[in-house]
Amino acid sequence: MIKKAILTASFVFITAGASFAAGAHDGMQCTGCHSLHNAKGALIAEVAPNTKALPDGASRSAKSVSAFCLGCHADADKGGMGILPISAHTTHPFGSRVNKKVANVPDGLLRDGVMECVSCHDPHPSNANYKYLRVDTKGGKQMAAFCDLCHPAKVDKSVSRDSLRVFDSMDEVSGAKTSAVSDLAGAKPAAAPEKK
Ligand code: HEC
Ligand code: HEC
Ligand code: HEC
Ligand code: HEC
Repeated sequence: MIKKAILTASFVFITAGASFAAGAHDGMQCTGCHSLHNAKGALIAEVAPNTKALPDGASRSAKSVSAFCLGCHADADKGGMGILPISAHTTHPFGSRVNKKVANVPDGLLRDGVMECVSCHDPHPSNANYKYLRVDTKGGKQMAAFCDLCHPAKVDKSVSRDSLRVFDSMDEVSGAKTSAVSDLAGAKPAAAPEKK
């Protein structure tokens, strides 16, 4: 029974606010986010997708992928669990198609052509980067390297976009790996999961 309780979403409530030795998501185990038999949304989500906290005009893709994250990472009055809450009104843009003059996003990081939380973060425990970011920022001290991923025209050229390594856990054929931006640039944008 105790084991079962730990493996359910209740674990999230117990551990919210606590700090973890490894990474914050690692302690939740896979089943903190994915429900094997009682899915509440696409990606067999353990938490129901929170579409209330999405920006106005968010795409269908965002209703599956980013709404999943916001099931936990939004204030309770916005449908989330109040865990490190993100507000669509004050945060970096996400949930819509990209104006290429503003950002040069490698295709492989988009979901159905849409910018999502997972364009910047890979939330899986295999990602050792600071804040589960796609790029190693040396614990946040080299954040320009991360911005360089999509806004290279703005970044000091001592930071080379060609040498960036981008983390991705989504291909079990090759395993968790880091790729060059050029490899992701030609990639077909991944399809968003079907909304349940
Ligand atoms: C089931 C709930 C849940 C979902 C869904 C979820 N998270 Fe989290 N997340 C947590 C918890 C719990 C923490 C740890 C909070 C703390 O330390 O106070 C956390 C922490 C984080 C952190 C901080 C990590 C650190 O090292 O400080 C980031 C970044 C993050 N989540 C991003 C995401 C993204 C992006 C998604 C969607 C892809 C997502 N989360 C989905 C529960 C969730
Ligand atoms: C913080 C929440 C979170 C945790 C913890 C988590 N996942 Fe995920 N998982 C996601 C999200 C979000 C996606 C979609 C990612 C994307 O599109 O880039 C995903 C995608 C997946 C997929 C791919 C589905 C597909 O269509 O290709 C698998 C398989 C998976 N996760 C397994 C796991 C396993 C195994 C663990 C434990 C080691 C785990 N996940 C832990 C949030 C999580
Ligand atoms: C443009 C890239 C980008 C997008 C899109 C993005 N994030 Fe983040 N996120 C970051 C960066 C960078 C940080 C680390 C900020 C820092 O520590 O200075 C961060 C930090 C976080 C944290 C940790 C906050 C803390 O106080 O430790 C959480 C949780 C998080 N993001 C969740 C999300 C969720 C949920 C979404 C989608 C709704 C999202 N992010 C979309 C770049 C992004
Ligand atoms: C994964 C790609 C990606 C990363 C990484 C990224 N951005 Fe963005 N950024 C975008 C997209 C997409 C937009 C919105 C473009 C549009 O308007 O369609 C954007 C827009 C912006 C804007 C304009 C916001 C507005 O309201 O007009 C600023 C400023 C910005 N990003 C700063 C940053 C900074 C600083 C970093 C690094 C900490 C960063 N971005 C990292 C993709 C990214």
